[in-house]
Amino acid sequence: MVCLGNICRSPLAEGILKNKSTHLDIYVDSAGTAGYHIGNKPDARAIEIAQKYNIDLNNQRARQFSRKDFDEFDIIYAMDKNNYANLISLADNNEERNKIKMILNELNHDSFQSVPDPYYGGQEGFEKVYKLLDKACEKIVSKIE
Ligand code: 4NP
Repeated sequence: MVCLGNICRSPLAEGILKNKSTHLDIYVDSAGTAGYHIGNKPDARAIEIAQKYNIDLNNQRARQFSRKDFDEFDIIYAMDKNNYANLISLADNNEERNKIKMILNELNHDSFQSVPDPYYGGQEGFEKVYKLLDKACEKIVSKIE
């Protein structure tokens, strides 16, 4: 799960997918394309919205996406078009490029819709992001099942 700062959208996506996939043999992690928040906990508003749905983000710490992630992960979900473009520019070959997907394409095939960046808004933006990611992660789990 990859966003820009790894403190708002991708920590939520990680927490939601982990929560829905405890019966599956998958490893879920998140990262940011930028390094501004390396080592930080998720944004307090992300922690709060997750807590409302009984998901605990307190143990997550932000990290930056690295080229090693192309070896370690089968699927790399970008939260928005900028993250998608940044990830594509980091990829070296088609095998790596083919791993990169827009997460909301799980809901609307080929729509290339972005999860809106909630960083500069209020708590209602986080609620909206939570609901979008919850639906997308539900779809991901049912596909894997
Ligand atoms: P995220 O949100 O990419 O969903 O973690 C943001 C976090 C930090 C910043 C922008 C977006 N920032 O500019 O610091």
